[in-house]
Amino acid sequence: MDGNGRWAKQRSHPRVWGHVRGSAVVSTIVEEADNLGIEALTMYAFSSENWSRPQTEVRVLFNLLFKFLKKERERILKNNIRFRIMGDVSNLPEQTKKLIAQLEGETAHHTGLKLTFAFGYGARSEIAYAVNRFMKANPGKEMSEDDLNEFLMIPDLGDVDLLIRTGGDHRVSNFMLWQIAYAEMFFTETKWPDFTVTEFRFIIEQVAKRERRFGAIAPTANLETNVIVARENQRLIRG
Ligand code: FPP
Repeated sequence: MDGNGRWAKQRSHPRVWGHVRGSAVVSTIVEEADNLGIEALTMYAFSSENWSRPQTEVRVLFNLLFKFLKKERERILKNNIRFRIMGDVSNLPEQTKKLIAQLEGETAHHTGLKLTFAFGYGARSEIAYAVNRFMKANPGKEMSEDDLNEFLMIPDLGDVDLLIRTGGDHRVSNFMLWQIAYAEMFFTETKWPDFTVTEFRFIIEQVAKRERRFGAIAPTANLETNVIVARENQRLIRG
């Protein structure tokens, strides 16, 4: 969700105003993802690198998270949404940590949209975290890809299908590096506070048209190959 600061500066407002407007957009996109029946939506709200921002900005972001939880709790509960935070929240204010724990507990059995906020999150530390936990649990054992999947912060999120970055930069910035191995990427110039449900839908429609091959060859080529192999087999059988 990039571009908040520049959005605000262009309007001669302090950077944090962009975050405030951006948090309203978070609510609309969550609602739309839920309406569309999307399985999981993970929003990068605060990276481990964001700790180096001015204290006032960090405090505003904490505050926005707190307000979001308060404001959206009822809707999350009513709509069967499973809410979780992925990252290190140990430095958040006690009352925010309490709200997070409460909502995570209340929605633990929910089967609808998996809504996750990556907060205090960095993908490299997530991978290190997974490796360390695995080694502790399985001393001396070699780690497989499945093992790493299993020891990630939220294993059931699975692989990312689509990564959208707003704000015009074409970077991944330490976001779910392991899980995006085969993700489709969409980079838009739109700054996050200007991001709309219409653009969200447009991106999903565009990406749905792309062919995903996961390292294999195109399905049509596969079909052609199958036909050639079948013909060759028949020729061999007939002698
Ligand atoms: C990057 O924009 C964005 C962030 C660091 C924070 C994203 C947070 C929100 C959208 C609001 C949080 C809301 C909730 C509900 C947790 P930037 O400041 O780096 O923008 P810039 O690249 O234009 O400077």
